[in-house]
Amino acid sequence: SGRARPDSASGPAAGEGAAGPAGPAGAGPSEEDLAAAGLRLEVDGAVATLTLDRPERRNALTFATWRTMAAVGASLPPSVRVVVVRGEGPSFSAGIDLSQFTGEGGEGFPDGSDAAETEAFIAGLQDGYTWLRRPDLVTVAAVHGHAIGGGFQLALSCDIRIVADDVKFCMKEPALGLVPDLTGTKPLVEIVGVPRALELCLTARTVLADEAARLGLAERVVPREDLDGAVQELVQALLAVNAEAAVATKRLLWQAPENTLEQQAAAERREQVARLRALSALRPTP
Ligand code: ACO
Repeated sequence: SGRARPDSASGPAAGEGAAGPAGPAGAGPSEEDLAAAGLRLEVDGAVATLTLDRPERRNALTFATWRTMAAVGASLPPSVRVVVVRGEGPSFSAGIDLSQFTGEGGEGFPDGSDAAETEAFIAGLQDGYTWLRRPDLVTVAAVHGHAIGGGFQLALSCDIRIVADDVKFCMKEPALGLVPDLTGTKPLVEIVGVPRALELCLTARTVLADEAARLGLAERVVPREDLDGAVQELVQALLAVNAEAAVATKRLLWQAPENTLEQQAAAERREQVARLRALSALRPTP
């Protein structure tokens, strides 16, 4: 299965191979599946670039987008270390395609009358984002223009956000009578704290680039025309670091908020034992 919970302590054990919890990559979604889901995927050695590619709809997200993203995560080749998520056209993403609420052109949103069925439906959509936290990948959101609702939550699901100076983050769900349910509330609170997360969500206001940087919602802000270059620079820097150490360190860092100091110190020791063993196995015996 491609599902992973590296944000809890249940990630793969120290020293596990870089292929990660997805195991060996299977056949991924076809070009047709990707296009129908409004996605484009390019894999170039250690780097996968996932592009939201429905610019005429401001990269609005459909059920197919989330399900196909889950399938992409489950089928990435083990060579991939870094995933860049970006948007084509004027916006990163305008959030859920509003036609999904009306059921226009197919499946509609469940009405909640069957709680278990509705939760299973939402879980299937959440799977589209959770793999972005897998420790064997470093995920980078390259965000420009609007990142609304499910689009904002997608950016929050990535490890690092590089944003253009025209970025507009907005958690719009409460304004539509909904809660943010695409796994964005946890990273939002981890980044900005409960009071600020409350203020942002409950007013559904828009956060611009300067404030995003101040709040920690962006690791870097660059002029719009420099976004791709800044992302490439970051990707090269990420790839220059020892691959196994990067996996172990990501696993360690994502556990930290949950752990006590003692638990975290023990986790550091365990990871370091695995690292030292791996490094000494590489050393020539005297
Ligand atoms: N769902 C479906 N279609 C959309 C969406 C969307 N979320 N967002 C934009 N589009 C369509 C527009 O209807 C328009 O279609 P048309 O050309 O047939 O008229 C086209 O994309 C371009 O959109 P414009 O509004 O013309 O573009 P503009 O750049 O002026 O505005 C903006 C962009 C601000 C994103 C605006 O389109 C908007 O507010 N969209 C809705 C955002 C929203 O409420 N999303 C849901 C959030 S909640 C969640 O994600 C769970």
